[in-house]
This record gives sequence, structure tokens and C-alpha cells, in this order.
Amino acid sequence: MSKIYEITDHKFDAIVVGAGGAGLRAAFGMAEKGLKTACISKVFPTRSHTVAAQGGIAASLGNLGKDSWQWHMYDTVKGSDWLGDQDAIEFMVRRAPEAVYELEHFGLPFSRTEKGEIYQRPFGGHMSDFGKTPVPRACAAADRTGHAMLHTLYQQSLKHDTSFFVEYFVLDLIMVDGECCGVMALNMNDGTLHRFHANITVLATGGYGRIYFSCTSAHTCTGDGGGMILRAGLPLQDMEFVQFHPTGIYGAGMLITEGARGEGGYLVNSEGERFMERYAPSAKDLASRDVVSRAMTVEIREGRGVGPRKDHIFLHLNHLPAEMLAERLPGISESSRIFAGVDVTKEPIPVLPTAHYCMGGIPTNYRGEVLCPKDGNPDAVVPGLMAAGEAASVSVHGANRLGCNSLLDIVVFGRSAAETAAELLAGGQELKALPKDAGEESLARLDKYRNASGGTTTASLRLEMQHSMQSKAPVFRTGEGLQEGHDELAEHWQKMDDLHVSDHSLVWNSDLVETLELDNLMRQSLVTMEGALQRLESRGAHAREDYPDRHDKEWMKHTLATVDDKGKVTLDYRPVHSYTLTDDIDYIEPKKRVY
Ligand code: FUM
Repeated sequence: MSKIYEITDHKFDAIVVGAGGAGLRAAFGMAEKGLKTACISKVFPTRSHTVAAQGGIAASLGNLGKDSWQWHMYDTVKGSDWLGDQDAIEFMVRRAPEAVYELEHFGLPFSRTEKGEIYQRPFGGHMSDFGKTPVPRACAAADRTGHAMLHTLYQQSLKHDTSFFVEYFVLDLIMVDGECCGVMALNMNDGTLHRFHANITVLATGGYGRIYFSCTSAHTCTGDGGGMILRAGLPLQDMEFVQFHPTGIYGAGMLITEGARGEGGYLVNSEGERFMERYAPSAKDLASRDVVSRAMTVEIREGRGVGPRKDHIFLHLNHLPAEMLAERLPGISESSRIFAGVDVTKEPIPVLPTAHYCMGGIPTNYRGEVLCPKDGNPDAVVPGLMAAGEAASVSVHGANRLGCNSLLDIVVFGRSAAETAAELLAGGQELKALPKDAGEESLARLDKYRNASGGTTTASLRLEMQHSMQSKAPVFRTGEGLQEGHDELAEHWQKMDDLHVSDHSLVWNSDLVETLELDNLMRQSLVTMEGALQRLESRGAHAREDYPDRHDKEWMKHTLATVDDKGKVTLDYRPVHSYTLTDDIDYIEPKKRVY
């Protein structure tokens, strides 16, 4: 194959794949510590999906009411429905205030209180006093916090001299004797092929939300790191847990931040009722996302949806002062006008739960090291391989993530990955020798898709997969539906051998790149569906109508899934960490979630 494809070689101490918040924080953190670091991204860094985050970053600063990291930890464990690893959660929430102040000092333009402190708003599931009443914990830059964060982190990356490889699509990991030694990549701009050789590879490639038809994720959220992991024969963790955000714009899927409810917005059914009072008497519209999404779905199913088809819900902001909406929620006011034709100062916004966030991903510890059970050790580390951000499952979000814990996760664990890499590479380390044919298998795969001449277009197969996921693995799931979804996906997987790629060039061949992305998505849809089919309980975002209760005795464990090239999924499990990081806080015992 190398006769057809000439390869350009690069050598680095560390490479980071992905240039969203986690990737940038990891990359400049490594460069800052003197590591020769490359950051490889399929999009220009400031176009990464972090830019779309709206409501804020969670930290117990206590600027607008008393708060503590212990309360934040309690809420995160409870929100995760006790699938989160409590050592990692303690690590994250304790580092949250420092992470926010670091961003402030980097220049992130946070909104301000009258006293000039960082503005904080209430957000779903964030409560005071171990679950009593909502607390303002989301540090916000209006409703464009992700945008502000991404630009701030990119500026820092330039300051610390990270080497960027922009518009390079990473194809696969280079694994040698179980160790990761780098990646293969296609420069989409000129069609050249590249082998990046490094001691440490960090996957910060984001989520795989595009397995669903309606999602808040960008078209680029195709789980490329997860695809690489599965092709390397490594497992992904807890993939059945996909979060539906309660308020995607009906028909368009665009995100309307939970911050809208944090600022006083509320949901209403066709009878004009603020129905969340029935489902979550204390937190109401600020209950955690899985709870609100399910409540909305029940309202619609029981005939109390709004609109001609009674198939969505109204979000009211029109009782709030117009000046406040203009100052704190300008982004969603604009999205509502463009995508729903609604003036938020006068009319309600039509909304519907929409796939939003992948709690599952590449299993890591809180140091960012990728895990794969070995010789009876469920926490064995894969040498040379790390992951951070939505691509990873640390697992701080467990079965359901709280809003604003994602922007926190990406900066805390991006930085942690950099610290771990610096520690592992302290004193310098020779690169492990590569076999002559390193990366050839990946080029063979590229070549197969490039010349695919079957009868199925990539776009049509992707749509079929997305519809199967949307209809068979939605907010409420049943064994019957999941089995149908499993069978449909098996048929879709067969069609991967019948693909037709019409453009055979290598320069800006979006047909080919979308096909490679579809390979990543398809493998992840297979493990998502299988994990959901086999998990016989309801926990967090995974709501089984045929198994409505949480079963801690049997199911308080992480799912690990691999898939072979025939599309056959194999599941295994590893224990949840039922211990904290330090003696400063006791393990939070499982109990029923009440909001
Ligand atoms: O609703 C939002 O602004 C989303 C935030 C998040 O997913 O963390």
C-alpha cells in the first residue's frame, strides 16, 4: 500500500487529537511543560464543538449564594445515578474553582455581578445543602460560554507554541505490542498522508452524538476517537448512556440552554400547566436533564403536547424582562428567531428533548490514562494512550451528566492529562521503534473506502442508522424496540460493504471523509444499542419501560464493549469506584433520586 501512498513522518513527545476545550487545554499544558507537542484537528480549532456550549461552567464559587465543593460533589454523584466514579468526581469538583479562576486569568470574558465578581446562574440538578434548593453554580459568559472559552484556550495554545496540524483527519491509532505509538492521518487540504510517532497520544475527539437523527451536536461530532479505539480492539465504556437535552428547538434540534430555565423560564403543556411541579416538586424545571426529558415525553405521550400534532412542549421566557433576555440570553434569543421564527420576548419557544451528550466513551482514570482490564486488573492502563473530554468516560458523569459539568470536565481533565504526560515523560524518553509497516492497515482501510463502488451512498446509510437510533434507542426504551434496533443496525453494518464513494481523489474529498466518519459512527451505534439492550434496569439517561427500577446489586457497574469487523459486539463489565479520592469526604451511599 505504501507504494500507492507516500507517507510523511513526524516525531513528537506527545500528540493530541482534537482541538476543542479538552484538546487545547491538554495540548498547551504539555507544551507549557516543555514537551514537543502536536495538536491535530479536522476543523480549525475555534470551530470545534465546544464553541456551541451555552449555559456555563459549574464551580462552587459561591458568588451569588453559599456553596461548597461537597454539595457540588453530592449533586454530581446523585445526577450520575451512582454510576459515576467518586474518586474522579471529587478530583473534578475540588479543582473546579481553580479551573474557573485560571480561565478568568487567561482572559475569558465572564459576565459579572454588580460587585464585579463572576456571574453564576442556577442550572438543572445543582442544589445547595445536599439536594435541598437550586444554587447559582454555573459561571457564565452570557449564553455563549463555550464560545468564549474556546477562543481563550486557543489564544493560550498560540502563546505556548503548540504545533497545529489543522484540517488533518486522523484515521487510526498505531498500536505496537499493546502500546500506542501515534496515529495515521490524512491532510484533507492536499491529500497527503502522515504518520505521527509519539510517546503519548491523547484522544480529545468529542462525542458521537451524530449517531442520532436529531441532536444538538455539530455535524463533526462523529466519535472519531471512539472509532479508533474500537478498531484497535479496545473497549468503550457505558455507551448506552446518551443524554437527551430537554430543550432542543422543535424540528431543528438547536440547543436552547438550560440557563433559560435557570434565569426563570419554565415549561408548559397544552393545558397551560407548569407540569414539572408534578414530577419534581422541589427542583421543578431545574431537575436534572434525564428527569425533565422524561417528564416532557410523558406529557406528549399522554396527549398534553402542544402544536397541531401535539408533539412538543412550550418553553416560556416571555414573562421575563426584555433587557434581561438581551443581556443574559442573547444567543438563544437569536436562535429562536432564526430556527423557530419566535420572538422570545412575546411568544413561547417550541421545544423537544434532543440527543445532546454522550456519557460513555473511552474509559480513563482521573489522570487521563486509558484503561483496559488486564490480568484481573479492571483499571489496567494502556501504555502511551490517554483521552479527555466528551470522548472519554472518566467516569464523572456516570449515567447522566449535570449541565455545566461538561465545560468543567474538559478543562480539568485536559489539564490533568497534560500533568500526567509531563510526569510520565519527565527526564525524556526515546520513541519506541515502529515496525516498517506501521500504519499500513489503516491505509488499506482508506483505500478500500476510497474505491468503494457498491450501490449504497454514505448519506443514505448514515440516515438509516440515525433513524434506527432515534426510533429504537430514544428517551424511553423497551427490550422489544432495542432488539429491533439491534437487528436493523446489523443490516446497516452489512451495507458498509456496499458503499459507493463517487469522488476518488484525496484532496478535499468530503465524500471519503464522511465515509470514514460513518465507519466511526456505525461501530459506536452498534455498541450503544447492544449495551442498552443488555442493561436490564433503568438508571440515569437509560430508561427501560420493561425494567423501570435501578438495580444496584446487579447493575452498579460500567459496561465495556468491543466490536469485531463482522459487527459482533462483546460486552464485559468493570466495577464502579465506590471510594473517594481523599478522607475529606465519605463515599456517598446510593439512594433513590428525588428532586
Ligand atoms: O443547556 C446548556 O447550556 C448546556 C450545557 C451543558 O450541556 O453543559
